[in-house]
Amino acid sequence: MADFGSSRLQGRVAFISGGLRGIGHACAARFLAEGAMVVLSDLDSAEDAAETMAALGDGASYLQADVTREQDWQRALDHVTQRHGALHVLVNNAGIDLTGPVESIALADWRRIMSINVDGVFLGTRVFVPLLAQSGLAVKGGASIINVSSIMGITGYSEVSAYNASKGAVRMFTKGIAVEFAKKQMPIRANSVHPGFVETPLLNAGFQRWVDKGFAEKTEDLVAAMNSATPIGRLARPEEIAAPIAFLASDDASYMTGSELIVDGGWTAQ
Ligand SMILES: NC(=O)c1ccc[n+]([C@@H]2O[C@H](COP(=O)([O-])OP(=O)(O)OC[C@H]3O[C@@H](n4cnc5c(N)ncnc54)[C@H](O)[C@@H]3O)[C@@H](O)[C@H]2O)c1
Repeated sequence: MADFGSSRLQGRVAFISGGLRGIGHACAARFLAEGAMVVLSDLDSAEDAAETMAALGDGASYLQADVTREQDWQRALDHVTQRHGALHVLVNNAGIDLTGPVESIALADWRRIMSINVDGVFLGTRVFVPLLAQSGLAVKGGASIINVSSIMGITGYSEVSAYNASKGAVRMFTKGIAVEFAKKQMPIRANSVHPGFVETPLLNAGFQRWVDKGFAEKTEDLVAAMNSATPIGRLARPEEIAAPIAFLASDDASYMTGSELIVDGGWTAQ
């Protein structure tokens, strides 16, 4: 396991939705390395997830759960309560993308992205708030909710309107709950994270779809275009998003709530 020279999350329990791949998986590895115990959820069966989970080790457990289903979130609460009796960190990470001209977006596809990217964040927050509030009392910086939005929740992008809308909703939902918890003196901080372009299965699949639609000859051309549009000159690695998420999860971010942490290699700074 990687050594980050820190045990900031020692003894803490974290739940990460969409944790088997990409940014969620990198968060799980980072949290474990910093001393936390993690519960991951995703769509895969427990059998299909077994190899990934075994590689993460004993500190991690898995629950097959769809973020759009209320009953799955209830099972998530039961799993966390029975296994750990506490929850200090909730990362609402599961998400999908959707691209295309606005006039071509089917209502069913619009509703699907909203149900995963927005309803999923709401449902996860709602079910865990009482346990987070209770567990947060024992933690210096309070419990921490981290909602994964995107730079697309801050700036508009052509043919990304549905994803823009979903991630903008995540950004504002986070500010709403942050103020609500703080005003009620509940020991829960809530912040959103806004990654730029990150090398994950989601981005790779999106690039492939653009190639299939004829917008580029090959995915390498799209990677090169994103690299040159990003001041830092390259895509992010998932670990580079997990590190700021671990910071928000820790007491180092004890005065941060309602903020939006942009992790985009300078993309929105231009
Ligand atoms: N990759 C990027 O460039 C990028 C940039 C900005 C924001 N994001 C956001 O980061 C988050 C993670 O993205 P990623 O790139 O790691 O994606 P990914 O597709 O690599 O991983 C997402 C995981 O979520 C799971 N998932 C999807 N729908 C689900 C559902 N209904 N219930 C439970 N799990 C579900 C998937 O199975 C997958 O394992 C998403 O919210 C995404 O919008 C990604």
